[in-house]
Amino acid sequence: MGPTIKLSSGHEMPQVGFGLWKVENEKAADVVYDAVKLGYRLFDGAADYGNEKECGEGIARAIKDGLVTREELFITSKLWPVFEDGDKVEPAIRRSLSDWGLDYFDLYLVHFPGALKYVDPSVRYPPGWHYDGKSEVVRSNTPMHVTWAAMESLVDKKLARSIGISNFQAQLIYDMLRYARIPPAALQIEHHPYLVQQELLNLCKAEGIAVTAYSSFGPASFLTFGFKHAQALKPLVEDDLIVEIANKHGKEPSQILLRWATQRGLAVIPKTSQHVFMTQNLGCTDFDLDQAEIEQISAKDPGRIRFNQPSNYLRPTSSGFSVN
Ligand SMILES: NC(=O)c1ccc[n+]([C@@H]2O[C@H](COP(=O)([O-])OP(=O)(O)OC[C@H]3O[C@@H](n4cnc5c(N)ncnc54)[C@H](OP(=O)(O)O)[C@@H]3O)[C@@H](O)[C@H]2O)c1
Repeated sequence: MGPTIKLSSGHEMPQVGFGLWKVENEKAADVVYDAVKLGYRLFDGAADYGNEKECGEGIARAIKDGLVTREELFITSKLWPVFEDGDKVEPAIRRSLSDWGLDYFDLYLVHFPGALKYVDPSVRYPPGWHYDGKSEVVRSNTPMHVTWAAMESLVDKKLARSIGISNFQAQLIYDMLRYARIPPAALQIEHHPYLVQQELLNLCKAEGIAVTAYSSFGPASFLTFGFKHAQALKPLVEDDLIVEIANKHGKEPSQILLRWATQRGLAVIPKTSQHVFMTQNLGCTDFDLDQAEIEQISAKDPGRIRFNQPSNYLRPTSSGFSVN
């Protein structure tokens, strides 16, 4: 087991895990099995990724073959916004657990703040952003404190060992801390040298909230959406400074990006379907950057770039956004 982070729930979370977004369904079981074999213990899934069943098959095979026990694994899943109404939270986690073939998640996150109108799984699953499956975005009026109370009941019912949040900014966290009976154990955010967010990290440190970075390689996984600001940037693994530091340490640029995050205290969950990258990414904590290098990399942040935000996906349509 590599380095871990102690959560406020008392449970340990591996600092280097494996991201499952866009791992293709046909490959997912084998990818997960291989990742367990290589030594990954944390798997970051979500209902929205549409591959929880296949990922669960990989886990089941790894346990059956004696590679690992359930207790040694740390499995994360996430609640999609259409399931944020209070009475929809438990059925949503039960569906994800059933797909994975598990009794509990180690960590269950609210995927994005901002409840959307419920879409029954028999209509479409995973439901995505749009109520009609095409372009219509319909809000639900459920505020976060209602969703969070339902999340807390998942811990009481032992369906989730820890609960947390994703894509939340400071103001909403400050609000949550006023009403949470169980404070969020973890926050998952987009984090890379173009989006450093030191103030948010300071807040989380002060409040005992562990932070996991996603999209550690920056624009890489947003190119397929045709985002112009992602296409306009040089890939971080080709960035001159990152390459120079990598050469100095005899490491890959990708490992420099992951080590920069882990030395700043974050967990990382890089995604790949390629064996060579899996090995590189898992081995990202066996060397240290010096403080000056960490600061040089942090200084790359122009303070204005963010790829993963709903407004990039939810452009107003002719019918506009409707409120339920
Ligand atoms: N909470 C949220 O809203 C949210 C949003 C986004 C992501 N996430 C989570 O975070 C995970 C990681 O984020 P991400 O999927 O956006 O992207 P990422 O891990 O930053 O980047 C993935 C891309 O980098 C490539 N790559 C992986 N390892 C590499 C290496 N060692 N060298 C060079 N290229 C490498 C992959 O290529 P190949 O695939 O071709 O190997 C893929 O194109 C996701 O899978 C998901 O679990 C959460």
